[in-house]
Formats: sequence, structure tokens, C-alpha cells
Amino acid sequence: MAQLDVVILAAGQGKRMRSGLPKVLHPLAGRPLLEHVVTTARALKPRRICVVYGHGGEQVLRAVKAPDLTFVRQRRQLGTGHALAQALPHLGTSGTTLVLYGDVPLVEVDTLKAVIAGAAEGLTVLTAELAQPAGYGRIVRGRGGAITAIVEEKDASVAQRRIREVNTGIMALPAARLAGWLSRLGNRNAQREYYLTDVVPLALADRVAVATVRARAASEALGANSKSELAQIERAYQQRCARRLLERGVTLADPTRIDVRGELACGADVAIDVNCVFEGRVRLADRVAIGANCVLRNTEVGAGSRIEPFTLIDEARIGANCRVGPYARIRPGTRLAQDVHIGNFVEVKASAIAAHSKANHLSYIGDSTVGRNVNIGAGTITCNYDGARKHRTVIEDDVHIGSDVQLVAPVTVARGATVGAGTTVWKDTPPGGLVINAKTQEHRRGWKRPTRKKVTRDP
Ligand code: UD1
Ligand code: CA
Repeated sequence: MAQLDVVILAAGQGKRMRSGLPKVLHPLAGRPLLEHVVTTARALKPRRICVVYGHGGEQVLRAVKAPDLTFVRQRRQLGTGHALAQALPHLGTSGTTLVLYGDVPLVEVDTLKAVIAGAAEGLTVLTAELAQPAGYGRIVRGRGGAITAIVEEKDASVAQRRIREVNTGIMALPAARLAGWLSRLGNRNAQREYYLTDVVPLALADRVAVATVRARAASEALGANSKSELAQIERAYQQRCARRLLERGVTLADPTRIDVRGELACGADVAIDVNCVFEGRVRLADRVAIGANCVLRNTEVGAGSRIEPFTLIDEARIGANCRVGPYARIRPGTRLAQDVHIGNFVEVKASAIAAHSKANHLSYIGDSTVGRNVNIGAGTITCNYDGARKHRTVIEDDVHIGSDVQLVAPVTVARGATVGAGTTVWKDTPPGGLVINAKTQEHRRGWKRPTRKKVTRDP
């Protein structure tokens, strides 16, 4: 295949976003728009990827900097043609140059391959048919049906505005022609900008073939110029994720109520109830069931486990056949072995819990190592923080901890011990036996609850 260079135009401010954040850094599925476009560009394995940046310069650089990207600064945003011209010194003079837009993130790799293939013959423009084409450049075709120009909405006649075939902005150009065409662009138009789209008549004048490729899905063409368009793109992206999950056999209670902000890998017979959010890398093994309204971030869940509704799991590994939630919070660094039960209003942080252990109600387990077959009663708290440092709690195998126990770390409860309800454990305990604090319970007969004297005011 001929040499391929990709240029991503990302210098615009995005006034219509009404935001301090540069447009291309607005998040789609949890990642900057520009990052999605860069990922797509990488899949084409080009010789070079140039990113033309400008507005919000340093911020854009910091967000997407990577060794395989060449950054080119466009100091003043004088239009898409001017933006591409800034990249010229970095581009090959043979082969193909593919132009992508930092704010058009849903275009698919296969579609781009078709556009690149077309460029062997000349200039190829990716178009799409939109029900609501407002705001986009329109594809103007001559009598024979061949493309003759792209007209921006602001420059279009009433008749042209009725055209529903739009310019996605994406085009592949013969690199040898690029410099010549870009030097001939003018800015006599409604926006006083150097439009890249004006290369179409220049190519035709040079007797270079101009072809169009139609995007398979209209959503591929969507550009994020405003918050409302961004929201629409987010939905289109999520629909696409949901469709892929369904195709792979995942059961989704409602494909319109799932949000994947990263990569979600699922085994066989996984079922996901409504309103769940998956962030970063999440892996669900075979037969995992996720209840409604759960958030899982960078987490692995082992085969056969159930995550009950309203559970938040962050950077954790859940073993096989566990039951977590409802209303559980599992924080970073947690490892649950198999058949562990974590119940409602239990918070676990940076702790390893071995097989068959349970903490079913209202507990905080932090910086702890919990053995096998341990039962942690309701309201048990590990007191891991002394105001300066965190300390570890060790609970060995077969320990039973009663309700409302405080474990003052660093402390070890040795194997087989039983800790009575309401005990504060501040010293290591030997194996077996019963641990309680010496407390007494009194009953004061005839004791009266204090009462408030009624004050009678003078009239
Ligand atoms: C552009 C196209 C329009 C197309 C639409 C598709 C032109 C003249 N118009 O319009 O035909 O239908 O995209 O989404 O090309 N940019 C720069 N430097 C600049 C100007 C823009 O880098 O000086 C970048 C922007 O960051 C953005 C992209 O180029 O990523 C497109 O610019 P934008 O201003 O959004 O163009 P549209 O009006 O959407
Ligand atoms: Ca745009």
C-alpha cells in the first residue's frame, strides 16, 4: 500500500461548546474526543500521525501527548485548509494524506480504509446522508451526479441547504498535490476562513478525479460542536457498545441504559441490569450478574459472582462465586477470593479477604488481611488510621467477630478466636477462645430520667 500520513485537525476553540475546555478535550465515553480519533488513526498503521493543535495549546498537548504523535501548532485558527497547511513540512510528498477532524470521533476504521483506497485514483471525500444536515457543509453534485463542490452552510443558497448529503470533513488526498492546492486556497467566504473543502474545485480544475465514499452509518459523520451534539454522539457511541455486547451474547436488561467508558470484556452468560456504568478496563467472567445501578471501574469479577444493586467497585479483584452488595463500596486494592460475601453498607479498602469469609452489614474493613471462613459481624470497624499513618489489621482463619467491634490497628486476631460484641481489640489476641473487654452492666432501680421544668410566663 502507498505511504499513508494522517493529519488530525484539532486547533479550533469550539465556541459553541461555551466552555473553557478546548473542544477536542471534551469527554466522549470518559475519554477526550481527540483520543478517540487518535485511536482510530493508529488502527490504520500510518507512517505518521500529525495533530494540528492551537486553541488550549498546552492543555491539548498534556492530554494526548504520545511518542508516535507529531504535534504542529496552528497559532491563529484561520480555517481547516490553513490548519492542514501547517502540517505540510511533516508530510510525505508521495502516497496519501488522510485528514481527520478532532471533533468527528465516531468514524470507523473500515470506512476510512475505503476512503484511503479511493485516494489511489484522486481526491476522496467521506460523506453521509443526515436527516438533519443543518450546520454541515453540503455536497453539491453536477448533472451527471459527480461531486462539484462542498458548500458551507453559511455560504449555501436556500436550495443548497436542502441537500441532505453532508461533508464529514474527512478526506484522503494525493500527497503530491497537497502543497499546490493548499497554496491556492482563498478566504473569500462568509467566515473569512481558508476552507479545506475548496480543494474539490481545485482538484477538478487540475483534472484529478474526485470521488465520494458514503459512510455506512450516519452516526459516523456526527461532529461535536455543541453540548447537544456531544450528548447525541455519546448516545450513538453507547448504542454501538451495547449492540456489540448483545452480539457477543451478553444479556442487557435495556441496551439504552448502559454506559461503557472504557473496555468491558464479558465471558459467557453475563447479565447486566439497567443503569450500570463501566469505567476503564472491566472484565466480567462467565455467568457474572450485575444488578441495577452499579458502577465498576478497573475491576475484574470472577465466574458466577453476583454484584447486587447500587454497588460501587473501584480497582478491585472479585473472585468467583462472590456476592457483593447491595449498597457495597469496594475501594482500590481490594482482593476477594472465592465465595466471599460483602453485604449492604460495607466498605472495603486495600484488603485481601480469603475464601468463604463474610462481612454482611455496616462495616469498614481497611488495610486488612482477612483469612478463610471468617465472619465479621454488623458494625465492625478496623481503626486503621492514627492521624498520621495507616496500620494493618490481620484476622486469621476461622475467626468470628461479633457486632460493633473495633479493631485498633496494628492488631492481629489469631486463628479460631471469637470476639464478643462491642469489644475494642487493641492488643494481639492468641488463637481460639473468646475475646471480650471486661465491662460490667448495671441496673439502677428507681433511676429517673431528667425532666425539663415547665416555665410559666407572666401574661
Ligand atoms: C467542517 C467542514 C464542514 C463539515 C464539518 C463536519 C470546512 C470548511 N468545513 O465544518 O464542511 O461538514 O466540518 O464536521 O472544513 N480546525 C483547526 N483549525 C482551524 C479551524 C478548524 O484545527 O483553523 C479544526 C477544528 O478543531 C475541528 C475541525 O478542524 O476539529 C473542524 O473545524 P470546525 O470549525 O468544527 O468546522 P465545521 O464548521 O464543523
Ligand atoms: Ca465541527
